[in-house]
Amino acid sequence: MKPAAITEAGIGLSERLGTVRRQTLDLCARLTPEDMMVQSCPEASPVKWHLAHTSWFFESFILREFLSGYRPFHPDFHWLFNSYYEGYSAFPEKKLRSSFSRPALDEILRYRTHVDDALERLLESGSGPEALRRIELGANHEEQHQELLLTDILHAFFTNPLRPAYREPGNEEARRQGNRGTGERAGQQAKERDAASPLRFLEFAGGLHQAGYAGSGFCFDNELARHQVWLEPYALSDRLVTCGEYLAFMADGGYRRPELWLSAGWDAVRNNGWRAPLYWTKEDLGKNLGGGSWSIFTLRGLFALDERSNAPVSHVSYYEADAYARWAGFRLPTEFEWEAAAETAPAEGNLLESGNLMPVPSTDLAQDQSRGQHQNQGRARHFGDCWQWTVSAYLPYPRFAPLEGALGEYNGKFMSGQMVLRGGSCVTPEHHIRSSYRNFFSPETRWQFSGIRLAQ
Ligand SMILES: [Fe+2]
Repeated sequence: MKPAAITEAGIGLSERLGTVRRQTLDLCARLTPEDMMVQSCPEASPVKWHLAHTSWFFESFILREFLSGYRPFHPDFHWLFNSYYEGYSAFPEKKLRSSFSRPALDEILRYRTHVDDALERLLESGSGPEALRRIELGANHEEQHQELLLTDILHAFFTNPLRPAYREPGNEEARRQGNRGTGERAGQQAKERDAASPLRFLEFAGGLHQAGYAGSGFCFDNELARHQVWLEPYALSDRLVTCGEYLAFMADGGYRRPELWLSAGWDAVRNNGWRAPLYWTKEDLGKNLGGGSWSIFTLRGLFALDERSNAPVSHVSYYEADAYARWAGFRLPTEFEWEAAAETAPAEGNLLESGNLMPVPSTDLAQDQSRGQHQNQGRARHFGDCWQWTVSAYLPYPRFAPLEGALGEYNGKFMSGQMVLRGGSCVTPEHHIRSSYRNFFSPETRWQFSGIRLAQ
């Protein structure tokens, strides 16, 4: 391995790249080729498209530019798998991605191998610093698509009347389900063990803070430049709002009280018929979960709400998060309040590698930690479970400089009409998240793993 190809963390870029590329395929191991064709909502893309597009990114922005003699895998792929880079090539409408029955899956898998082999040749040939920076960008891009892949497959499986589970419930969930009706005491023990900790607020002094990425490793252009922000004294809840707490908002007429909602949020409630978070349903579908009661669909299958009542509520829009906070007598944090609170915390939590694939009660994590992992007692759980809506509009930082060329379209052109989310979710790769990381979605978005942290 050439010294130039060593990342800051001391891990060979070649090794990191191989790990990321393999992880994408590992996530597909539970899927059929038919699963990989589904595009069930405007936000989503088929898994097959994710597999090809992540390879297209490396081919378009690295191999074509930096590997001399590189032969593209297919003459049409440079436009077929472009997502939105207007400055690079024309591209098909997003909604047509589910029509890509051709190229076949095995051809896309060969495309991935072709790109992997070429990247290895590039790294072995002693690539320059710009090529190495772009490979790291490509790895981070692929991690974003790993998260999207799971987010999209959850929606795809929700729209399937069989409601298949991406992954079967683990032993813990199976045991809980087995407890149903087999003994009040066992059920009570499970409830006590999973009880959410009381909501506490951690106070922060405010003052002059630095926001934006401060390290020497990788970050996206939208995390720069680091700059000063002024914070008034504030407090953040030490955990996310739970499904049970959100149910209380619903029971108090939350979705029927216009005074709780922003104007655009109230329009969204009426126009979309919202009365609960996405993936909450009262259909029983023969699952014997208690007809007429709420159930919640997850990547681990369908759960009765009372089994999930202490887990963080997920798949709510910004409008719902805002209305809940108003109902509860609090507010959502700004992105800078969130970052200042999380900056010194380890980027640990219920992330992809935990294998939960759904938000879990904070006490569950505390139990994991007491078994020898990081001790986080008395500290807010900042990362994982759900991306947390902030009240901050997604805007450029002072001295923001997008990447050069078509890559400048990666983040900057979306800085209008979107809100910032922080913290990562249960499907965010752990290597991928940090305190300065800015995710962004339009305020009505619900297909993401998006939840609520309160501020005051
Ligand atoms: Fe992409």
